[in-house]
Amino acid sequence: MTLITFDENKQIFHLSNASISYLIGIEKEAYLSHLYFGKAIKTYHDGRKYPAINRSFSPNPDGIPLKTRDFSLDTILQEMPSYGHGDFRNPAVQIKQVNGSSITEFVYDSYEIIFGKPELDGLPATYVEDKKEAETLVITLVDKLLGLKLKLSYTIYANRDVIARNALLENNGVVPVVIEKLASLSVDLPAQDLELISLPGRHIKEREIERQPIQRGTRIIDSKRGTSSHQANPFIALVAPKTDELTGIAIGLTLVYSGNHEMLIEQDQFSQTRVMAGINPFGFEWELGSNACFQSPEALLVYSDQGINGMSQTFHDLLQTRLARGRYRQAERPILINNWEATYFDFDADKIKSIVDSAADLGIELFVLDDGWFGKRDEDTSGLGDWIENTEKLKDGLQGIADYVHQKNMSFGLWFEPEMVNADSDLFREHPDYALQTPGRGMSTSRDQYVLDFSRQEVRAEITKQMRAILDTIDIDYIKWDMNRHLTEVHSSTAGAAHQGEIFHRYVLGLYEMLEELTTEYDHILWEGCSGGGGRFDAGFLHYMPQSWTSDNTDAIERLDIQYGTSLLYPISSMGAHVSAVPNHQTYRETGLEIRGDVAMSGIFGYELNLQDMSQTEKTVVLEQVAFYKIHRKLLQYGKFYRLLSPFESNQTAWIFVNDDQSQAIGFYFRKYAESAGPLRVIKFTGLAPDKTYQVNDDAIYGGDELMSIGLYIYPFLEGDYQSRKFVINEVK
Ligand code: GLA
Repeated sequence: MTLITFDENKQIFHLSNASISYLIGIEKEAYLSHLYFGKAIKTYHDGRKYPAINRSFSPNPDGIPLKTRDFSLDTILQEMPSYGHGDFRNPAVQIKQVNGSSITEFVYDSYEIIFGKPELDGLPATYVEDKKEAETLVITLVDKLLGLKLKLSYTIYANRDVIARNALLENNGVVPVVIEKLASLSVDLPAQDLELISLPGRHIKEREIERQPIQRGTRIIDSKRGTSSHQANPFIALVAPKTDELTGIAIGLTLVYSGNHEMLIEQDQFSQTRVMAGINPFGFEWELGSNACFQSPEALLVYSDQGINGMSQTFHDLLQTRLARGRYRQAERPILINNWEATYFDFDADKIKSIVDSAADLGIELFVLDDGWFGKRDEDTSGLGDWIENTEKLKDGLQGIADYVHQKNMSFGLWFEPEMVNADSDLFREHPDYALQTPGRGMSTSRDQYVLDFSRQEVRAEITKQMRAILDTIDIDYIKWDMNRHLTEVHSSTAGAAHQGEIFHRYVLGLYEMLEELTTEYDHILWEGCSGGGGRFDAGFLHYMPQSWTSDNTDAIERLDIQYGTSLLYPISSMGAHVSAVPNHQTYRETGLEIRGDVAMSGIFGYELNLQDMSQTEKTVVLEQVAFYKIHRKLLQYGKFYRLLSPFESNQTAWIFVNDDQSQAIGFYFRKYAESAGPLRVIKFTGLAPDKTYQVNDDAIYGGDELMSIGLYIYPFLEGDYQSRKFVINEVK
């Protein structure tokens, strides 16, 4: 199947598979225009060709054949706009030159079509396993005055509703230039009513769903924190006002990047919408020497005409199977017990062993030793940077614990926070310059810690060496890679003044280099990302680690919002979710063990509490939950996920997991607050086969159409606050 064609006469590129089309034109033999992104078009006949139109105060560029008042860069829909030749909207590229100018003019030069999808040098990206899966169009633009080449890559997969884009800038000129901004992607959409969905949040309240109309002006969703952040996940969706979970148009956009990002939405004077994503230009300056090139991160643009859930499913499958890597990519993930909320820093070997004993008795498969096992780390003010086991706490050392865990037929996991250092650590005493700091200024602390300068190779090498010393001697099956503060006083002591604007990005590149090295070398390890919970839950990190701790908030009710919001983009197989103690440590709320279990098993299931403190009755519930999850985890981790009722819209939340052949499904219904003499609520499922017959909870039998169109009453009534119900749905033949 040919996925990309170029029409020489019309000067139009058409990227298309059976379900989507993306059309790019070359205007006036020079400028790339955006024509269309949406449902597949079989043959393009100039539909929506931008009219020749004269608009006052919209300048006409010089140098095009037959200069005319009817053409302005200020009005046409573009693909990668520069600034300075009459487009007064936000540019996608800005380059500072020796003469002080930042004006560029990138015009069309040539194109190439490549089978498959090239890797991105030093950056995470989606990939193909077989070249037949995708084709990539590389369009080269040039700025003739500066000798710069801008190569825009567009990959279309044969069977996915996504376009993957990136930009590569090459300096073929004789003098260096400074990149002030290089977006990974820019798209201009014609005038229409659109709404913006984004996922803002904060620590212990990540990825809340916000939806608002797009109006004229610029809206920026960004991070200046050095990471993708709890505060502004690198994701937006543009939807039609009537789009809901299952119907209507949704265009989703994410950046495969873990550092400062900028997602920009601008509605112009004519109500056209420009959307852009890339490295945040704030605090960014990159000197590009002669013959050097700069690679932007990848951006992923998904199209759905089956609502927001359709968009999510495309992202889920893509991120799960063509972004995440390693042997755990699609493997069943173990049920874990983590000691953090059970002990915090207050543990010794005996306490740990008693947690392991109870976990083993309950059928839990992986024990994770969290913060506090290393250096002088009895509280969070010291020890980071010294990754040496603390044998005062663990009398037989880490290997003693690892052996104990393995003897119980469980796997052993360990927590690290490799990017950080405490002032009170041997590493900092020896190498204070290893921490990011600006000369002459104070060093802000956050959780009493500093950020190591991962832009520096020798700093990464020191931490890698320390980690290797542990990984090479102790049997470790799982690692949680944490990061518990954001970057301040960003300045690197070994980089010259002209390169300080590169440090934010070089930090991320350094981090990726280290992650690549460690995760490929220790590929038997299940790696889980974390940043104070879900502070670095992004597509970049997922390339190295197939799962991430979703939030430090383990309250089941808050988790409904957090997991629901997270699922807009990220697959269930990436979302760590644990049952913790009550009253909950973040919200002080009391909830039953059943709802805590149901919420946590809607993610990568685990426990994080003192199992030994549980009553026999509670242990029986845990035994049942563990047994249930083991039977159903393939479906729960990798099934198609449909959101049914939103916790952001009402007192009810519901979702369902359906397997590939629609023979099995598990639905969950949650109700936050009791309703006195409340209405008889109905749950309608989705994703089932209408003509199949199903048995629900080993009991009554219904048609798939019946379960989806008529639904079931939530009856018997739920009693009290914080209730949940499961529906195990199996095909009967
Ligand atoms: C972060 C993580 C927690 C825990 C602590 C340990 O907050 O998100 O799960 O590991 O650090 O300090």
